[in-house]
This record gives sequence, structure tokens and C-alpha cells, in this order.
Amino acid sequence: MPDTVLVTGGAGFIGSHACKALARAGYLPVCFDNLSTGHAAAVRFGPLVRGDVRDGTAVAAALRAHGAVAVIHFAASAYVGESVTDPAKYYDNNVGGMIGLLQGCRAAGVGRIVLSSSCATYGVPDRLPIDEAAPQRPINPYGRTKLICEQMLCDLGAAEGLSHVSLRYFNAAGADPEGELGERHTPETHLIPLAMRAASGLGGPLAIFGTDYPTPDGTCIRDYIHVSDLARAHVLALARLLGDGGSLALNLGTGRGHSVREVVAAIETVTGRTVPLREQPRRPGDPPELTADPSRAVQALGFRTELSDLPTIVRHAAPWFGLEPRHDTAA
Ligand code: UFG
Repeated sequence: MPDTVLVTGGAGFIGSHACKALARAGYLPVCFDNLSTGHAAAVRFGPLVRGDVRDGTAVAAALRAHGAVAVIHFAASAYVGESVTDPAKYYDNNVGGMIGLLQGCRAAGVGRIVLSSSCATYGVPDRLPIDEAAPQRPINPYGRTKLICEQMLCDLGAAEGLSHVSLRYFNAAGADPEGELGERHTPETHLIPLAMRAASGLGGPLAIFGTDYPTPDGTCIRDYIHVSDLARAHVLALARLLGDGGSLALNLGTGRGHSVREVVAAIETVTGRTVPLREQPRRPGDPPELTADPSRAVQALGFRTELSDLPTIVRHAAPWFGLEPRHDTAA
């Protein structure tokens, strides 16, 4: 019998890729999702339980019904901009969701949790790359809710022996290399999907938010990590918890940064299409540069990215947006 894992938000972008990675590693992922932003069509690797993480009773029932030994918790609202205009939604879904989840786990006697956290918990870093000892000073409600979730896990870990791994993602990107899963947000705000749409002639030109940053080409730099690499890190974090490894927080990134213009150039090279551009003022709240120090994840999990070079990320994302990668760009 495979170990069963409850995956909240398993119908979403990163959650669905994690379910695929779990199934491939021999686990049974049970997707627990209210389908408010996720897609039932992305639930392909185990059963779907429709439910809301704020409902601890429903979480406990799902854990018991499927005999889950651990939880991977993705279900959350994740738009930085929306979190500024509607913070109540973020405290309700993200913090309220964490409370419901923890109540459900306690009721069902499940004490192992992998949390989807974010580099947004660091805010604007004092130095780069960012390591896990960097101060966590989030600059928006989204980041604050994720930090609260991490702190709740630490407090319950100390008081009740819960074991947990918080995974602080940098910029999740790309799509399943086999084309089964991809990135589908409504509304879409992320750079690579919007640039793909612009390249395919849908959605108008890509807005470049800020060309006067203190970076070599004036545009923001981010650390893009392939979603299938991210997914694999969750499997390793789960194995660590099931093997009684201690609780900890880990960055998930590559350590390499790419500017907005470099991302656009990679898309143009890989697809052979032009990305029409429109230079715009800075987007409020965007730090100039964010890159991870990924060394703790290497030490703790043996995790190294394999697909997270920019051409591969773009090559895997392109078909999802109806664009064929050119054959001479295979990475
Ligand atoms: N960008 C553009 N034009 C666009 C969209 C984005 O120029 O149309 C730029 C942004 O200004 C930023 C970069 O592209 O410099 C990446 O932007 P994304 O919106 O794709 O990603 P973010 O770095 O803003 O956000 C990501 C995650 C969040 C997380 C945040 C932490 O999506 O969940 O990192 O900083 F909170």
C-alpha cells in the first residue's frame, strides 16, 4: 500500500505538479481543493476531495477517510497585488486556512506538514543571494500571511511535536515536460504566461514594469525555478518528514537571476516569435532583485534543480500557450 498524502490546493499550478511527482515517487496524492482557483482537469494522479481548508472538520474527515500520513499544504490565495487591496481575503484564506488545516490534522492525529511558503516572506533583502537566516520582513499582506503560517508551524512544533518543512519558493515557472499540466491563472499576472500570450498574438503587448531599476538592463531580476523541480523538492521534503528528519525552512530557487528583458529574449529565441513590448512605470512593491541561496536545500534534502535553466523553462511552458519551441533550441 502506498503512503497517502493529503495535498491541499492540489488542483492548482504547483500543487498539481506536486501530485504528479508524488505519484511518480510511489505515494497516493489525495487532492483536497475547493476549486475556487484550481482546475478539476488538473487532478489526474489520485482522488479529488472537494473541500475548504478553513473547515477543520472536513480536513479531518478527508485525512481519516484516506488514511493520510502527512499533508502538503498549497491551498492559499497568492496574488501580491490583490493582497494589498483585499487583505481580509488573504488573512481569511491563508491564515484561516492554516488554522482549519491544523485543527483537522490534530483531530486526525496527523503530525507532518510541508508548507508552501514564499520568498515574499523576506521582503526587500539587505543582501543577495537570500539565505534562510535573512530577516523575514514582508512588505505586503500576502508575504505576512505566509510568514504567519510558518510561525504557526514553529509554535505548534514546539508545543505539540508537529514536524514541518516550510518551502520558500522564488519564482515558480515552466510546465510539466510531458505537457500534461501547465500554468492557468485567472487573472494572469505572471511574467512568463503574459509574455507567452503576447508572443502568440493574444492579449496585446507585454507591459515591462520598470526600466530604471539599478540592474544591468534596468529591469527587475528574479530567480525562476521550474515547477517540476519545485514539485520534486516537495517529495524530498515529505520523505524527510516521514523519515523523522527535523523541522526546518528551505529556500527553493536556483541562485541565478534573470531580468525581465532576459526572459523576453529567451522566449523569442525558443519560440521564434517576437514579444511585443510596452514600457511602463514600476509596479508598486516589486523589489529590484531577488535571488536565492539554495545551499541549505542541497544539504538538507539533496535537492538540486535539473530543469530550471531559462531555455528549458520556456521550452516546456511554450506548448501550453499554443507555441511550438523551435527544434534548434533544445536545451
Ligand atoms: N513583470 C512585468 N510585466 C508583467 C508581469 C511581471 O514586467 O506583465 C515583471 C515584474 O515586475 C517582476 C517580474 O516580471 O519584476 C516577475 O513578476 P511575476 O509577477 O511573474 O512574479 P513576482 O516576482 O512578482 O511574484 C512571485 C510570485 C509571488 C511571490 C513573489 C515574491 O508569483 O507569489 O514572487 O516576491 F509572492
